[in-house]
Amino acid sequence: MSGASNFVEGVDLAFTIILGASIFFLIAITILMIYFVIRYRKSKNPKASQIHGNNKLEIIWTVIPTILVLIMFYYGWMGYKPMREVPDDAIPITVYGQMWSWSYEYENGKISDKLVVPLNKAVRLDLVSRDVIHSFYIPAFRIKEDVVPGTDNYMWFIAQEEGSFNVFCAEYCGDRHAYMLSTVEVIPETEYLAWLDRSDVPEGQHPGLTILKQNACISCHSLDGSKLIGPSFQGIYGRTETVVEEGTDSEITVDDDYIKSSINEPNLQVVKDYTPGLMISYKEQLSDEDLNQIIEYFKTLK
Ligand code: CUA
Repeated sequence: MSGASNFVEGVDLAFTIILGASIFFLIAITILMIYFVIRYRKSKNPKASQIHGNNKLEIIWTVIPTILVLIMFYYGWMGYKPMREVPDDAIPITVYGQMWSWSYEYENGKISDKLVVPLNKAVRLDLVSRDVIHSFYIPAFRIKEDVVPGTDNYMWFIAQEEGSFNVFCAEYCGDRHAYMLSTVEVIPETEYLAWLDRSDVPEGQHPGLTILKQNACISCHSLDGSKLIGPSFQGIYGRTETVVEEGTDSEITVDDDYIKSSINEPNLQVVKDYTPGLMISYKEQLSDEDLNQIIEYFKTLK
């Protein structure tokens, strides 16, 4: 089978058949319309004639389209059915969708922001949303599935070409939906196994920053002072902020307690002029140790 994944042939076949039928009828109907306009123009046919019923014609225009849509259904079904039948030996990888990034967790606990997979091996993706509905889409592989909070969804594929392929979010999920770009990196299996055992964290990177990156915090909070969805982390520690709690403004100093409560209960005291409800609680994702590392990292961001 050719194509970047094992599904390319089946999907492209269904697509070509439907597109071919559409083009055929577009052209045929247009030609017929032009012909009728000329053939039955007023000067040629001054008196309108009424035609009642034609069984032969009605049977033809019922049977032919029925056969056509059944052919379309057959090829569509043959392309789709294998997508839901995951081989038992598929390598499981968990995909987390969150506003607004994808992250990937491998069997050994490694987390990455690019999906790295071995060539010619079945890979199963378990799709988990941490907040709203996203849609995981790899155009080159011809696969797309919704990532829905509270439900388990999955997809699988065999990558058949080495290289880097785009991943998009195909479900509008808020302000920075368009930033949910990622890639699939297809590499030979030996390289994949070596990559899996290697740490991708840049040498000397603060562990707090690693945690912020892995949890997509920095897709909403900048490190350079620019205003995104949430307040910037630059100079955050010790800063004075006006926060809104149940409609009432108050002044607070950003200290350990405020940072911890903002991560665990992000909608309790929201910094003024920012929209509440856009951040979920990270209580389940981050341990006390993680929170302390984040706080230590904030102290370095002057
Ligand atoms: Cu996630 Cu759009």
